Amino acid sequence: MSAINPRAVQVKAEVISNKRVGSYHHMVFAVEGMAQSARPGNFVAISVGGESSSLVLRRAFAICRSTDKGSAGGVVELVIAPHGQGSMWLASRNVHDTVDMVGPLGTSFGIPTEPVRALLVGGGYGSAPLFGLAELLKARGCRVDMVLGASSAAKIYAPLEGKRSVSSMTLTTDDGSAGLHGRVSDALPQLIEANESEIIYSCGPMAMLQSIQAIADKYQLIHQASVEESMACGIGVCMTCVVPLRGADGIVRMSRTCIDGPVMDGADVIWDSKGKIPAETWGA
Ligand SMILES: Cc1cc2nc3c(=O)[nH]c(=O)nc-3n(C[C@H](O)[C@H](O)[C@H](O)COP(=O)(O)OP(=O)(O)OC[C@H]3O[C@@H](n4cnc5c(N)ncnc54)[C@H](O)[C@@H]3O)c2cc1C
Ligand code: FES
Repeated sequence: MSAINPRAVQVKAEVISNKRVGSYHHMVFAVEGMAQSARPGNFVAISVGGESSSLVLRRAFAICRSTDKGSAGGVVELVIAPHGQGSMWLASRNVHDTVDMVGPLGTSFGIPTEPVRALLVGGGYGSAPLFGLAELLKARGCRVDMVLGASSAAKIYAPLEGKRSVSSMTLTTDDGSAGLHGRVSDALPQLIEANESEIIYSCGPMAMLQSIQAIADKYQLIHQASVEESMACGIGVCMTCVVPLRGADGIVRMSRTCIDGPVMDGADVIWDSKGKIPAETWGA
């Protein structure tokens, strides 16, 4: 039975910086000990709206990068796409404001023990957790190719310093306003073949992850997907974040992406059953 990440703590996190990057806000928070236990793929759940707010549900955000050194002590970096009440409230916090943050939550990306040729694929703000991952893989001697896609140029989060930690960076946009015209999945076969990729790491919308899994199946590649299903509690209590997942015993169970994920083995997710309970599911 899965449980909440045992390293999770609740902190008053101080905003150290808040910078606009294209359509996003790159925010840095002082979190002390949380930074040391955060791994690429983990996320945090933040209380939004202030003490008297009616926004009772915490909002989940992937940890972009964590650092346990420096003058602020431990820090985590987040990339916020302001669109609803909670994310807009968070993006409008000023330096020295504090927020109530729980983390690190969820599973993290598996890091190979030997150097491998890794392909990292992000859609929209799904690129956030891939930069910390790229740095770790590079430090382990891996070749790291990255492809980032979005609907238009302004929605691609690809900061300059992020480009330094990858061997190649490919951009795609649905409207052709930057990089290749099309979807990330259109670019993958050529990149996999040219770079002889051995493993895919991905984060983005469910439809994108599903199309990546079809390509991973074709090329017989391992695919670790960060499944960012809508979450209400973020700690395994409410069951709003479930997806059908085939376990090692072959049985399909509705599994909570907040504690069994967000990082899951893409081959185990029953992608075409999103929003439904497949007939073969245990207990259905
Ligand atoms: C693991 C994870 C990582 C994420 N990382 C990032 C990131 O790095 N950057 C980023 O900008 N966003 C990220 N998101 C998305 C972000 O959490 C949502 O966009 C969030 O809802 C924004 O809140 P809001 O108030 O602005 O939007 P709103 O859409 O107004 O908030 C809606 C609220 O309702 C909840 N909700 C919506 N649909 C459902 C549902 N079907 N079941 C239960 N509850 C629901 C949401 O969780 C949220 O609490 C991530 C989400 C997850 C799950
Ligand atoms: S968000 Fe509540 S169980 Fe996953």
